[in-house]
Amino acid sequence: MKTELPVLKIGKYQPRYPLIQGGMGVGISGVKLAGNVARCGGVGTIASVGLCHDSPLFKLEKHNYFEVNVIVIKESLAAARKIAGEDGILAVNCMVALTDYDTQVRAAAEGGADIIISGAGLPLRLPDYTKDFPDVALVPIVSSAKAASLITRHWEKKYNRSPDAFVVEEPATAGGHLGATTMEQVYDPALSLDVAVPEVVKYVAEEMKSDIPVIAAGGIWDRSDLERVFALGAKGVQMGTRFACTEEGDASDRFKQAYIDAQEEDVVLIHSPAGLPGRAIKNPFVTSYLEGKVESKPCFANCLSHCRYRKTRETFCIAAALVDAFNGNWDTGLFFCGSNVTKVHKIERVPDIIKELFE
Ligand SMILES: Cc1cc2nc3c(=O)[nH]c(=O)nc-3n(C[C@H](O)[C@H](O)[C@H](O)COP(=O)(O)O)c2cc1C
Repeated sequence: MKTELPVLKIGKYQPRYPLIQGGMGVGISGVKLAGNVARCGGVGTIASVGLCHDSPLFKLEKHNYFEVNVIVIKESLAAARKIAGEDGILAVNCMVALTDYDTQVRAAAEGGADIIISGAGLPLRLPDYTKDFPDVALVPIVSSAKAASLITRHWEKKYNRSPDAFVVEEPATAGGHLGATTMEQVYDPALSLDVAVPEVVKYVAEEMKSDIPVIAAGGIWDRSDLERVFALGAKGVQMGTRFACTEEGDASDRFKQAYIDAQEEDVVLIHSPAGLPGRAIKNPFVTSYLEGKVESKPCFANCLSHCRYRKTRETFCIAAALVDAFNGNWDTGLFFCGSNVTKVHKIERVPDIIKELFE
């Protein structure tokens, strides 16, 4: 039996399907992926982190990394808008942990993002950075009702503004940086979607007295996963890993091949230089790092406000390693992935995935 699909409304934006394609840095969800998901009726999300890594402006070293990233965020939104069409809904994912978080958020709002989605830390000052753009919907990524409540109380007190939705992301399955402070916490049942989604839904209804949507993220692959989280009260899903390995995905073919090849034993947790656990494919780079032997490329951007590599030369330059993965450098890249990477067997097409999920 098929359950009826919920209607997802985030601020003034209502996508045809209750789907957000998750922001994936560095470069994995850029113009093509976000534009095409938006064109097909989901929310397409550009990840703002390191977007300028292959910009000729950055390569020419005429401008610094932060200046070029602002230009590229705006250019990328304009290019994605051409693919998405005027009705397509485009989001930008901005990570709180970034040095230039405020600048990236402002660039996204000025560049015409409909929605800003923000995690990897608590986006406590997000409404301040977008105050001149009241139509831009603001969506924090949280892993518990406690985090949702902290953000909401702060926003209401300081900015008289409420979140327009919450993405609840499950560390046990999601890709990239995980919303857990320790390795043990990654598999804490309290942070599972089964527990956290109903908790945040209850918080929104009973404490906020609101009907903003709660969106589930982490380990969602097919229609049965959708129905499972809709039954928990979610009004939408955010999916990353499945969309990374699509024809429209912005990464290199070698990046996508790494997804196709990954087996269960290849999916590991690492301590990222940002101080958070992350999930990645075990390749020569990750194997050396886990053995304590990694040699890092030099820091090229000062991208993280708290970076263990920059401070103590422990760990590695994550920006360089993520760019290497984007380019498909198997030996030296950091290939972030969700636990569902083991289900990737081929490069799919965005319209086919959306059709399979919703029609
Ligand atoms: C390669 C990769 C990069 C990611 N980068 C980001 C990011 O820059 N910011 C962010 O908030 N989440 C990031 N994520 C998390 C995704 O947006 C998404 O929420 C999560 O992966 C959902 O789980 P799934 O991959 O099982 O569908 C990333 C995930 C992957 C797989």
